[in-house]
Formats: sequence, C-alpha cells, structure tokens
Amino acid sequence: MTIEDVLSIKNLADEEIKKTGDLKSVQALRIKYLGKKGVLTAKINSLGAIPKEDRPEYGRVINETKDYVESLIKQQEEFFKASELENLLKANRIDVTVPGFFIPHGYQHPTSRVLDEIVDVFLSLGFRIEEGPEVESDYYNFEALNFPKDHPARDMQDTFYVTDDVVLRTHTSPVQVRVMEKNKPPLRVIAPGKVYRCDADVSHTPMFQQIEGFMVDEHISMSDLKGVLEIFAHAVFGASTPVRFRPSFFPFTEPSAEVDIGCVICGGTGCRVCKNSGWVEILGAGMINPRVFEMVGYDPELYTGFAFGMGVES
Ligand code: PHE
Repeated sequence: MTIEDVLSIKNLADEEIKKTGDLKSVQALRIKYLGKKGVLTAKINSLGAIPKEDRPEYGRVINETKDYVESLIKQQEEFFKASELENLLKANRIDVTVPGFFIPHGYQHPTSRVLDEIVDVFLSLGFRIEEGPEVESDYYNFEALNFPKDHPARDMQDTFYVTDDVVLRTHTSPVQVRVMEKNKPPLRVIAPGKVYRCDADVSHTPMFQQIEGFMVDEHISMSDLKGVLEIFAHAVFGASTPVRFRPSFFPFTEPSAEVDIGCVICGGTGCRVCKNSGWVEILGAGMINPRVFEMVGYDPELYTGFAFGMGVES
C-alpha cells in the first residue's frame, strides 16, 4: 500500500458518491467504503503491516480520507432524505381548500317535538316521568284498571294479543298501576310512551304515542284536575283556548270526562277538523276509581287522585 493508493481511493469515492442519484446507492457506497469489509476499513486494518516509522503518516492520510468520505456520504444521505420527504409531501399534498362532504342535518320527528313540549309543561308543574313496558300483562293493561275479564268495556280498545295473558299495551294507564304499586302518595307522574291498537285508517295507526298523567294524595279533587289540564291546554294551544269537560266513561276513573278544546283551526266557528262542532277532543280523564286504589293497596278512604291520558299525534 502506498499513500497514492489511499488518495486514489479517496478520488474514486469522491466521484462515486457525488454521482449517486438516490439514498439507496449512497447507502451501498457507505458499505463499500466504510463497512466492516469496506475498502477503507481494509486499509486501516492493514496499518500494522506498514513499517513503524511510516505509520503516523499513513494513519493520518487514511483517517483524513475516512473522515472526508464519511462526511461526504452523510451530506448526500441528508440531501436525499430531505428530497424524499419533499417528494412524499408533494405526492400526498392535502388541499385544505377543497370543500368538505355535505352531511345532511337530522331533525327531531314532529311527534317527538310535540311530546317533549307537552312533557315540559307537566315537568314545570312538578310531575316526574315514569315509564312502563310496551308488552304488558293482561293484569296491568286491563284487570287492575277495573276491566273485568269478558267485560264489554274491553271492546273500547282493539287489542293485539301476544298470548291469552300478554298484550301490546293499548294505553299508558297500566303505568299508573305499576307506579302506585311501588310508591306511596303523594304522586305526581307523567308517563309518555308507545301504545298499540288493532286498527288502521286515515286517522289511526296501529302504533301511536300517549301521555298518561296522574296525581294522588289526600284531598285531590276534580277541580285540581281541571286546573292542571287548563294550564296544560293554555300552555300548548294558547292562553285564550277554551277548555270543556264532557261526561264520559272509563272503568278506571269515576267520574270520567272527555276534555275538548276550542278548535284551534277555525277558532270555534266550525270546520272540517272539528266536524263543524267548534270543539276538538284532546284527552280522556277522571278521578281514579277507588277500585284501582284497592288493587294497588291504597286506602280509598284516605286517598283520592285524578288521571288523564292523551294521544300525541292527534
Ligand atoms: N287510557 C284511556 C285511553 O287510552 C285514557 C284515560 C287515561 C282516561 C286516564 C282516563 C284516565 O283511552
């Protein structure tokens, strides 16, 4: 080995490294010159064979060459790494000015909006919300509400039977029984939910929503019922809406009433909606029948209460 050998390695390396076109070929040259079996490494390893007095000079030239090649390779590597990143960024450029996908808004179903509005009125009067099952036993849907088996009053509600003793609830009134069984008065409860009846025409669907309400305590009277329902009607239909009670019948209330409001469409003068009567029926109501109190273990001498049930859609 001569000094010239080393310098020609340096020149060759210099030429080769500067000619590289990508990171891969630079890394191949790193192995060729500086790797374990690299050309320069071999020179360093063979220093021992150089005569002692020449060794410092050889060592210096080889080390300088090694440092030179090392820094040149590093420089090239950095250059290609940077341009690779740049290419990657160019290729995967995100155009932040492209308009996003349009996601249509959802809206609350009209029935849910009305239901929420009605429930809010009763919450403001101190009622609390309770719920019951839609698949209900005959006992809660009928029996405990004073509809005896085979009584013609059951025909008022066309019932979907699941089995002989299990029905799709025809009204939300069973929630009255379930809540009273588990709680002592005073009670102020609102119970919204789906109910099912086996009929369908322009104004009826087999499934619809009802809101049940009831209040039980000592000394609750029909005037409490009238007051609460009037507040409700005025809040939902307008402060000047007239409200009237008509005698009616439900097995679980006594006395029972049907409640009408002045037709909000024609203002009471008569139209198609109110069938020219000027009034629209909005709910059934009454004083809870003492028989129902007996069924849930309340003392009917001590407690009285009112209940009402209204359809949300109609
Ligand atoms: N449950 C009755 C119906 O669905 C309405 C009602 C509820 C009547 C509470 C009186 C008291 O027709």
